[in-house]
Amino acid sequence: MRPLARLPLDPAAFREKFGPWAVIAGASEGTGECYARQLAAMGINLVLVSRRQAALDALGAALKAEFGIDTRAVAQDLTEPGAGLRIVEAARDCDVGLYISNAGADGFASFFEDSPEAAHRLVRMNISTLIDAANGFGKRMLARGVDGKGRGGIIVMASGAGLGGQPNLALYSATKAFEINFAESLWAEYHERGIDIIGIAAPIMRTPTLLRMVPEGFDTTDVYDPADVTHNALAGLLAGAPLQIVPDGPGQEKQPQVQADRIARLIGFVEFNKQFTAG
Ligand SMILES: NC(=O)c1ccc[n+]([C@@H]2O[C@H](COP(=O)([O-])OP(=O)(O)OC[C@H]3O[C@@H](n4cnc5c(N)ncnc54)[C@H](OP(=O)(O)O)[C@@H]3O)[C@@H](O)[C@H]2O)c1
Repeated sequence: MRPLARLPLDPAAFREKFGPWAVIAGASEGTGECYARQLAAMGINLVLVSRRQAALDALGAALKAEFGIDTRAVAQDLTEPGAGLRIVEAARDCDVGLYISNAGADGFASFFEDSPEAAHRLVRMNISTLIDAANGFGKRMLARGVDGKGRGGIIVMASGAGLGGQPNLALYSATKAFEINFAESLWAEYHERGIDIIGIAAPIMRTPTLLRMVPEGFDTTDVYDPADVTHNALAGLLAGAPLQIVPDGPGQEKQPQVQADRIARLIGFVEFNKQFTAG
């Protein structure tokens, strides 16, 4: 597996800011399961969302037995209209400090030969559901802080494919670009108001979805461990970072600079926009 140095992460500080409940959309396996396991180890209760009720029930029971947390399993297809609103409703009685928009992968497709309905399903999962869930949970995070500030966070699991176009990934790349810009914009708006948002331009990772997608003979050892990537996403959220680009693909040596440039631009806009919102 490709090495990725793990960033420092203080579990007590994380639980204080982002507990006592987290909601993970796309929780039953892969990166979602990694998030679930790491949050459970920090003592955070979990609302686990994906399509397969039995898989969620089994994961919830295992995490409850190992870490003593409370869990709730919500079977929901994130590509359905209204899915984001239903997730917020399913967690209405939980004090949610963290929302993770995780599911969002797609297979290779040729745009003109594929059905537009498949494209619209991806748009609903990666854009509409994210908008409704982020809005619903964000409102509640704003209301639960002290001294006029909110408290909580949102992780948007995007992809390096969102940093620019790619062949056979037109809709995936476009929706991941939305996710990155959306996360950066929310960070710029709410970071100083006590709510942290981070977009993860994730690299290729050894998840069940990836293993189902890749052709025979593909070297699945030269990919990242999802447990490392999700650990750093949680650490980056706590550190207040707006964006993490995990270097991957053609031009990867330039990506630390791309990340630095995007963050510098964003901070510039935070200051620039104060002239419009002051008073
Ligand atoms: N793996 C990679 O190499 C890679 C690279 C870059 C970025 N990413 C990003 O990382 C995130 C996670 O990727 P992943 O590889 O773990 O695969 P994924 O297929 O996006 O996520 C898997 C999880 O999402 C759930 N899920 C998938 N489709 C769903 C739907 N329509 N409704 C509800 N839940 C759904 C699955 O559970 P159920 O089957 O139970 O529904 C599973 O728990 C995605 O946003 C992806 O774009 C992944």
